[in-house]
Amino acid sequence: MQQLFTLTPSVPFTTRTLDKATVLGDYALPKGTVLMLNTQVLGSNEENFDDASQFRPERWLQEKEKINPFAHLPFGLGKRMCIGRRLAELQLHLAVCWIVRKYDIVATDHEPVEMLHLGILVPSRELPIAFCQR
Ligand code: HEM
Repeated sequence: MQQLFTLTPSVPFTTRTLDKATVLGDYALPKGTVLMLNTQVLGSNEENFDDASQFRPERWLQEKEKINPFAHLPFGLGKRMCIGRRLAELQLHLAVCWIVRKYDIVATDHEPVEMLHLGILVPSRELPIAFCQR
C-alpha cells in the first residue's frame, strides 16, 4: 500500500500559503507565496528511494533501506494533514485482506498504464487486472 501511494499518490501534491516571509534553502520567499509539495516527484526520486520506479513493497519492511519520512506524504503533513488517514488506511487494508482471501489477482496485459493529473491522479485506462475466484 505504501509503495502504491509513493509511486502513484491519489493526491499528487499538497499546497501551503506562507503566512510569513521564509528562507527555504537558497530561496527567500515572501509572505503569501504558494508552495506546492509534489508528492509524486518525491516518491519517484532516486535520491529518496533506491530503484524508485520498481514495485518492491518489501522496501518498507527493511531496516537497511532508511526511508526519509518526508519523502512519503500521501496524506499531507502537519496541522492540515488528512483527517481521514487512519480510516482510509484501515479500509484499504481490510479491502485487500477480503479480496485476496476470495480472489487471485492476475494481470490481463502488461502494457503500461499512464497516470493522468485530473486534480487527483487517475489511471489512463481500465486497470489490466482480473479477479479470479479461488
Ligand atoms: C486514500 C484516501 C485518502 C487520501 C490519499 C487522502 C489525502 C489527503 C491529502 C493529501 C490531504 C491534504 C493534506 C494537507 O494539505 O497536508 C487531505 C485532506 C483532507 N482529507 Fe483526505 N485523503 C484520503 C481519505 C480521506 C477520508 C476517508 C476522509 C474522511 C473520512 C478524508 C478527509 C480529509 C479532510 C477533511 C481533509 C482536509 C483537512 C484540513 O484541511 O484540515 N480524507 N486528504
